[in-house]
Amino acid sequence: MKAVVVYESLWGNTAKIAQAIAEGLGAGTLALSTAQATPEALAGVDLIVAGAPVIAFNLTSDATRPSPQSLPSTAPKPDLSHPMMRTWLESLPAGSGRSAAFETRVRGPFGHSVKTISAALEAAGYATMAPPASFIVTGKYGILRDGEVDRAREWGAALARALP
Ligand SMILES: Cc1cc2nc3c(=O)[nH]c(=O)nc-3n(C[C@H](O)[C@H](O)[C@H](O)COP(=O)(O)O)c2cc1C
Repeated sequence: MKAVVVYESLWGNTAKIAQAIAEGLGAGTLALSTAQATPEALAGVDLIVAGAPVIAFNLTSDATRPSPQSLPSTAPKPDLSHPMMRTWLESLPAGSGRSAAFETRVRGPFGHSVKTISAALEAAGYATMAPPASFIVTGKYGILRDGEVDRAREWGAALARALP
């Protein structure tokens, strides 16, 4: 069984959660940025777990992806080295397998990215195998709330147990 965790992360919170989910899924599971998750890296994959931050109530888009120009000069610099999750999903080759989605966000009713991720994975042929998961940060740029990394590792382990 080949599982891959794919993430977009501007300030590192989603990357940390992705790494913990991969650990929970088991030895050999890689957490890959959207730049690293090439069609070659995904060849033969049975499970794609994909996650991204909630920015402006949804996945980032050309209109909402933060940049040093759009942020206050005091803001930590976003990592723009890898494509938006939205772009990665649009170019995901059709396949077959299972999927699950996760997001990082602040606490409150400020939108989701998991709905867009799940719908795109389904459309590409990866059936949703579990309800999506949200992991919470305590400030606009993070840090992750206490316990969220452990919860992510446990979520990954629960996904592994649910596989046939
Ligand atoms: C410009 C900006 C807009 C944000 N918009 C939202 C939002 O609409 N809803 C939300 O729940 N969190 C929002 N957040 C919080 C991010 O989702 C949170 O910091 C996330 O963990 C960032 O993930 P990353 O470190 O992997 O990039 C926003 C943060 C920033 C900096």
